[in-house]
Amino acid sequence: MLDGLEQASGRTDYANDQQVGALTGQFQGLHGLLGSHIEDEDELIFPVLDQRAKHVVPNYNADHVGDREHLHKLNGLIMGLPKTPAAQRAAVGKQVYREAVAVHATGSLHMEKEEQILYPLFNAHTSDDEQWAILKKVYEKIPVEMIPMAAPGLMGMLNQEEREEELRSFMKAMPPASFKVLVEHAPKGMSPAEWQELRKRIPALTKV
Ligand SMILES: [Fe+2]
Repeated sequence: MLDGLEQASGRTDYANDQQVGALTGQFQGLHGLLGSHIEDEDELIFPVLDQRAKHVVPNYNADHVGDREHLHKLNGLIMGLPKTPAAQRAAVGKQVYREAVAVHATGSLHMEKEEQILYPLFNAHTSDDEQWAILKKVYEKIPVEMIPMAAPGLMGMLNQEEREEELRSFMKAMPPASFKVLVEHAPKGMSPAEWQELRKRIPALTKV
């Protein structure tokens, strides 16, 4: 998703309104996802971990502050494009590209660090029940109208094993109405054969 924005911002013809519109939509999707990643961790994960493992959270907090700044800057640049005269748009496009490269580099490093260090620590310091309760709150906050757009992209990034794991977790902790929408749109992120295979792995999917 982060590399997608970098690539799209590099090849967009900024004088072309249709292409700018497509880039805007792609950015808004990323802004929503990264924004909720930051918000969920700031509200639900970091306060719990900070009490149990000292000196870990500030490092990740600092990354979030940086990512918020990049997103804020990108938002201003991209949303300002329609009002920018066509002759000046190429220069703004270069700035958009620079910010997209920056947010890709810092954001993916941050996620890797979280996978390798923060989440193993979080898992070690919290019980399974606590983790499911937090996940439930995270899933409850996802606006239902965002699911049709996000589900195919998420599924497209995962392999079959990861898809199965994610779907089982969504099934267990997501509000049933949201999960129903997810199951409707998840198949668009994979081949029909892959979806059939997942339905065999998780028979309960056919009853949603
Ligand atoms: Fe994070």
